[in-house]
Amino acid sequence: MDRIERDKVHVRIALTRNLDSAQRSRLPEIAGKCPVRRILHSGIVIRTAPAGNRLGRRRHAWNNRSVMLRLSHLHKVYREPDVRYVLQDVSLELHPGEYVAIVGESGSGKSTLLNLVAGLELPDSGGILLDGRDLTALDDGARTRLRRARMGFVFQSFLLLPHLTVLDNAALSLKLNGTAHREAQQRAHAMLEAVGLAALAHRLPGTLSGGESQRVAIARALAHRPQIVLADEPTGNLDSGSARQVLALLREQIRSCNSIGILVTHSATAAASADRVYRLDGGVLHSE
Ligand SMILES: Nc1ncnc2c1ncn2[C@@H]1O[C@H](COP(=O)(O)OP(=O)(O)O)[C@@H](O)[C@H]1O
Ligand SMILES: [Mg+2]
Repeated sequence: MDRIERDKVHVRIALTRNLDSAQRSRLPEIAGKCPVRRILHSGIVIRTAPAGNRLGRRRHAWNNRSVMLRLSHLHKVYREPDVRYVLQDVSLELHPGEYVAIVGESGSGKSTLLNLVAGLELPDSGGILLDGRDLTALDDGARTRLRRARMGFVFQSFLLLPHLTVLDNAALSLKLNGTAHREAQQRAHAMLEAVGLAALAHRLPGTLSGGESQRVAIARALAHRPQIVLADEPTGNLDSGSARQVLALLREQIRSCNSIGILVTHSATAAASADRVYRLDGGVLHSE
């Protein structure tokens, strides 16, 4: 059973008559830690609770507990230069290990949604709960620290620092999180190898093509193994071979770190690499 399947099992955990009272009393405690492996190793039988009964209610409680990111009834309006309702009542839940794609026409609000999740902008109303903590209630400094430590953002426009080498750009997220210089350089180098750019480590961004810059931005976003990976059109500047490579890397990183990923894309091929696909249309998020 792979990690995603195990996590799905986790949210379906139920007490069954196979459990004795000691196991039953330990289950919520075990489930509250990190769950699936321990529970499987403990030899406790896992079953799906029949919906609507006493066990179903318990399952609901555990399900809530394992949600890592919850977007709750988000509304976003831009009032300048004219009034535009960009997001209307957007809700979404992501569990550890889940990777979703959001597609939509240009101007449908995809980047706005990612910016809200990253805490770069604030919604007009609604909540953005990360492990139960509402980002919208934090001050700017706390949001920045949280973003730096827990998120990796691949920006549509790369945002590489022009005076730093490719290697130093890739190491930036690690350095900002306090990783020692040598380790940061080694890990950034390994990430550059993963995106096929190790040979360009000492170049400056100004000497790179669009596709190469995009891959450096991806290496930088993933190097500190963030719990939340936000990628805004990460394959927009890549040929199909590089795009496949980058999508596989994003997916693998999300799986192996049990993090969550939100991929915003125009490309149906890129969206197909995700576990679920949503469409933003008229400010409303629909499941595809
Ligand atoms: N800072 C802003 N001020 C005013 N309007 C904005 C701002 N950012 C985005 N918009 C508008 O909001 C809409 C959604 O933009 P965006 O989220 O960038 O869409 P997408 O990423 O799907 O192309 C667009 O009409 C855009 O012009
Ligand atoms: Mg956009």
